[in-house]
Amino acid sequence: MSAASAVRAAPPIDTLGRPMRDLRISVTDRCNFRCTYCMPAEVYGERYRFLPRAELLRFEEIARVTRVLTGFGVRKVRVTGGEPLVRPDLPDLIAMLAEIESIDDLTLTTNGYLLAEHAQALAEAGLGRVTISLDSLDPEVFGAMNGRGHRPERVLEGIEAACAAGLGPVKINAVIERGVNDHTAIDLARRFKGTGHIVRFIEFMDVGNLNHWEQTRVVPSAELIARIDAELPIEPIAPNYAGEVAERWRYRDGEGEIGFISSVSQPFCGGCTRIRLSPEGSLYTCLFGSSGADLRGPLRDGASDDDLAALLHDVWTLRADRYSELRSQLLAHGSRRKVEMYQIGG
Ligand code: GTP
Ligand code: 5AD
Ligand code: SF4
Ligand code: SF4
Repeated sequence: MSAASAVRAAPPIDTLGRPMRDLRISVTDRCNFRCTYCMPAEVYGERYRFLPRAELLRFEEIARVTRVLTGFGVRKVRVTGGEPLVRPDLPDLIAMLAEIESIDDLTLTTNGYLLAEHAQALAEAGLGRVTISLDSLDPEVFGAMNGRGHRPERVLEGIEAACAAGLGPVKINAVIERGVNDHTAIDLARRFKGTGHIVRFIEFMDVGNLNHWEQTRVVPSAELIARIDAELPIEPIAPNYAGEVAERWRYRDGEGEIGFISSVSQPFCGGCTRIRLSPEGSLYTCLFGSSGADLRGPLRDGASDDDLAALLHDVWTLRADRYSELRSQLLAHGSRRKVEMYQIGG
């Protein structure tokens, strides 16, 4: 039996018993924002050298890797960046991915800035839904967090365009940082209550090496839940599926759902079925990984699907990552170099 068909017959689990289910594809390391927690403007200025085009995986290469990974059990695919909509012709990639039958959920994470102009084409190409980042509705706060002074209105237009194109219900992700935007979280919840969109509050994480993360700047979800509940009463609801990242809550008056992603205060590594593909074709088995497994080399050296399957099999069966669960121990031993979030997607 070939490596690929052996994998299809019995998809591998990693050293902690976790199967592979979700693939996150970062299509570019570039972004039109400079969020302070991801790509601080003082580091990513005019002189910063992003990856040259020849080093990026081509769409055909991405689609091929994705197809092989569906043989391992991948059913959920999220296209991210950097900002995925700055990559030219993205709907062409979406169309290639939409053709892969075993994908049940094809989604995109975007900052929304270019979404109004692309939503229709993405929907027509076969995209299922979108998740849009929006950290605050306060123009000062949002402008400071996105590092470019961009206003929230344009993102709101992107959200509306996504709905009009049939890409809803939209999820809206807000990273909450103490003293920066936590005082505006309730406004965000209130703005989308009753609209059918789902706001999710994310604890500020120590991804990458540049965002000056400190535990004191994290607002634990339990605290945020109490603050929101005091003004807009909410109650917990059951997850949609085992291992769901966001904890789901609903408004007691029936006006919809909100979520909390508590990867610092309540790590969810035990159910982590995610694998990440970087723009230049490295595979990472953890958001906090230091290095990835190169696929671009083999892809461009003529590797067969079977060769790729054998390589991927090794990557997954050796996987032991659980960074968030070990965070305090690891940080106590000094920091090690980690991949940046914009290289492997949010
Ligand atoms: P949905 O199925 O749409 O709910 O997707 P999701 O729950 O995977 O959510 P999404 O992709 O929007 O991820 C939301 C945020 O959760 C990300 O931007 C990260 O901040 C965080 N996150 C996602 N995956 C991981 C992970 O594997 N580890 C950690 N620590 N955080 C993650
Ligand atoms: N902490 C938490 N979430 C982050 N993201 C990026 N950097 C961080 C961080 N330091 C997530 C946000 C953003 C998505 C693209 O990545 O959800 O919306
Ligand atoms: Fe760009 Fe997203 Fe990173 Fe912000 S979080 S700088 S929008 S990639
Ligand atoms: Fe998965 Fe790593 Fe995040 Fe844990 S820290 S949930 S292993 S990506």
